Formats: sequence, structure tokens, C-alpha cells
Amino acid sequence: MSEDRVREVEGSVGSAVDGTGPIVGAGAPDLAGIEQSAARQIAATSTTEALSAVETEVLGKRSPLALAHRRLGDLAPEGRPEVGRVLQEVRDRLRSLVGDRRAVLAAAERVAELTADRLDLTEVVPGATVAPMRRGHLHLVTRTRDELEDVFVGMGFEVAEGPEAETDWYNFEALNIPPAHPARGMWDTFYLKLGEPETALLRTHTSPVQVHLMESAVAQGSLPIHAVMPGRCYRRDTPDARHLPVFHQVEGLVVDRGIGFGDLAGTIETFTTAYFGSDIHSRLRPAYFPFTEPSAEFEITCTICHGAGCRTCTGTGWIELGGCGMVDPSVFDAVGIDATVWSGFAFGFGIDRCAQMRHQIADMRALVENDIRFLNQF
Ligand code: DAH
Repeated sequence: MSEDRVREVEGSVGSAVDGTGPIVGAGAPDLAGIEQSAARQIAATSTTEALSAVETEVLGKRSPLALAHRRLGDLAPEGRPEVGRVLQEVRDRLRSLVGDRRAVLAAAERVAELTADRLDLTEVVPGATVAPMRRGHLHLVTRTRDELEDVFVGMGFEVAEGPEAETDWYNFEALNIPPAHPARGMWDTFYLKLGEPETALLRTHTSPVQVHLMESAVAQGSLPIHAVMPGRCYRRDTPDARHLPVFHQVEGLVVDRGIGFGDLAGTIETFTTAYFGSDIHSRLRPAYFPFTEPSAEFEITCTICHGAGCRTCTGTGWIELGGCGMVDPSVFDAVGIDATVWSGFAFGFGIDRCAQMRHQIADMRALVENDIRFLNQF
């Protein structure tokens, strides 16, 4: 073999023996061709995954470039530095092409992913809804509560709320109902497994909010109080036509100077006619509550017979709605209000009962059964 021939074989990038690589003759590998074809492959990729595969193909250990690099030693010594330098430049350019392409593809993929993940909650698919869609509305009890609040706000009351989980002190003791008091029998209580037995409970009435309001008014020096306190209450009652174990009350409390029983009676009458209509009135009948003295039950004209007497009102023409009275001095004592300066009245009644009376709902259980045919009527 002549010397030239030897050089030619040495200079080829491909292997003449296994036939995998181009034989470019005259010593140097066809780096320009390798670069061009790699650049085309990179530009043709459409996903980052495909790009990674191409990257391995054009820059990896088995790429034509790597092969050319391995064969540098086969070149004539004087040609090696130059070919080596060009080879490195090609590699650098291809690397940056891959980097640029990856940025473009990754951005596009991110956008596609976000678009695919987006939930269009406004979309209405025609024909997909079984019936024409209609807007719902607030539950009757919620509406009744809102309307009662409006009436009382119109009369100058503020609206306040208190916790549903209470301590014995707020629900009973501060309201003049000590532990062994027989009046506790009036409230069948759901006790909570919290601390000492029978110390934490679900409030049986909204009256404990009175105690919270009076305590904070004393602490802040912000007496007088004119407030109503609507909210949910719990009792261990078996549901029937007139009772639910979870129900709603509105509590009222006025603490001011010179408040008398006439203020209480006038407030109840004003609220009754404002909420039920001008033909419905109220009356007070003596009763007993531990936290008021004197106490009364208040009744309204029967909304079924308008006072004539019917089965619902057992012929009396009146229906009982709630309790009321003048705040007992022992309650003022419990919260630190000076009963020689301040006096007040309180009242409490059922919101669900109001709704039942106003809309003549025979059975209260309908309010919680979620029968859409019933609820839609209001
Ligand atoms: N808390 C009483 C109950 O649930 C109702 C009540 C009676 C509230 C008299 C009062 C009141 O504020 O003065 O049976």
C-alpha cells in the first residue's frame, strides 16, 4: 500500500471495514455535512421528548461527531488540532441549537398543557341538561331569618351572633339556671365530649348570646344594648309536626335606662304586625323563665283562622310563638351590670315556627326534608 493510500484510510471518519460511516477521503471528516444534517434533525423535532432522542443521536456517544472525535487519532498528526477545533465548534453550535429548540418546544408544551387543564365552568353543552336550568333561591328558613332581621333593624336593633357550642355557664348558669335547677329539664341537652362531663354543649336556645353581649358591653363600657341574635339551636327532641332537633331562634335584648314592661309589649306588637301583617296581633300571658322576672309567653293571632278559632289554635284564636320578660336582676349580677341603674327586657322565639305560621306549613319536618317540590313553593 502506498503512503497516500494509508493516509486516506487513516483520515476517513467512517469505518471502511464495518461500512457505517462516510468515507470522506483526503483525511478530514465531513464535519459540515454532519452539522447540516444534525441541524435539520433538530429543527424537525416537534416535542421535547423527540428532541431528547435527536440530541442523543447527534451529540451522544454513538453520534457521527463522537465517532469523528474517536478517529482523530487516525488522522495525520499535523491535521489533528485543526479538525479537533472545528469538531468542538460544531459540537458547541449543535448544543446551542438543541438548547434553543428545547426552550421553544417546552414553552409550547406548557401552553398546551395549561389549555388542556383549564376547566371551563361557564360552558353550557346544549342538549346536555335534562330540564331547562333554573336559578335556585334561598331556603325558606334563611329568607325568614333575613326578613325578621330586616324588621328588627328597621326598629333600631343591631344584629349579633354567638357560638353554637357553649359552656354550661353561658347556656345555663349565667341565665340563673344553676346545676340542680328543675328548669334544666326544659332543655334536653346535647352534651359534647369535651372536658369535664356536662360542661360543654350545643346551645339549647339563643339566650346565651345575651350573656356574651352583656359581658362584652360591660368590658368595653358600651352599654346600652339593643340587639337581636338569630341562630341555630339544638335539642334532643324527636322530630314531629312542631319540633325539630336542630332549629332556629331569634333572641332579643334591650338593656338601657328606664326600660319597662310596656316597652317589651310594644316591641313584640310592632314586630308581629310588621312581619305577619296588620291583621295579626300579639298578646302576653304570664309564664316562668329563670332569666326573666316577670316572664311571659307571647302569642300571635292564629294565622289559619285569623282569630276565629280552629283546630290549629285549639279554638283559642291564638298561637304561642316565644317567651319574653324583664331581665332578671340575678342575670345582671352574673355579668356585672348594676341593676339599680340599668333595666331591660328580653325575648326569644322560633324562626322555623314563624315560617310555619306565616306560610301555614302543616308539618315542620318539610323544612328539612329537601323535597324540591315543597321548597319551590316559597
Ligand atoms: N330561651 C327561651 C327558650 O328557648 C325563650 C326565651 C324566653 C327567651 C324568655 C328569652 C326570654 O329571652 O326572655 O325557651
